[in-house]
Amino acid sequence: MTIRLGDLAPDFEQDSTDGPIRFHEWAGDSWVVLFSHPKDFTPVCTTELGAVAKLKPEFEKRGVKVIGLSVDPLDSHRRWVGDIEETQGAALNFPLLADSDRKVSDRYGMIHPNANDTFTVRSVFVIDPSKKVRLTLTYPAATGRSFEELLRVIDSLQLTDKFGVATPADWSQGEDVIIVPAVTDEQAKVKFPNGWKTLKPYLRVTPQPGA
Ligand code: BEZ
Repeated sequence: MTIRLGDLAPDFEQDSTDGPIRFHEWAGDSWVVLFSHPKDFTPVCTTELGAVAKLKPEFEKRGVKVIGLSVDPLDSHRRWVGDIEETQGAALNFPLLADSDRKVSDRYGMIHPNANDTFTVRSVFVIDPSKKVRLTLTYPAATGRSFEELLRVIDSLQLTDKFGVATPADWSQGEDVIIVPAVTDEQAKVKFPNGWKTLKPYLRVTPQPGA
């Protein structure tokens, strides 16, 4: 079954490098990034896990827990983590699920049989504190993801939740945001006291609230 935006993120129990995890309990009140990689001891995956380990303080600043997954068994994960630290200069500092029975990857649709029927693709799910899926991404095996981009999206999601604004193409933290069309000019005067620019009646930009 496909997991779509707004769906409740399925709960599961699975082994990980941090011991058995009951997903919803582990997530608690945090945002979560759940991401799969195709295979241990492969080059792109090694760089990705190092990149996430280095960015962990940035995820934490935003109240986000990260958790990785592949269908490799726990002993493989445990043997591989030394390579990540050695080559990427960052030790694994988040749990890696060992989904060798594919319980999680099947439920989350992380195996795309026409791409590869054995390994998970590079899936990402951003899940909010109410356990709703807020973002999904799927990358092919040969393309490493930008985890900085994931932080940018999380900034946008959290800003839109807090202030009811939208963010334009290529927006990043501190830049102008969009007043959504559902907000009238009368309401905008109260919500956005710093004013706004009207480029079209449906396209109004205002300084980022709370910046
Ligand atoms: C990699 O991580 O480098 C990789 C994994 C599976 C297929 C292709 C590349």
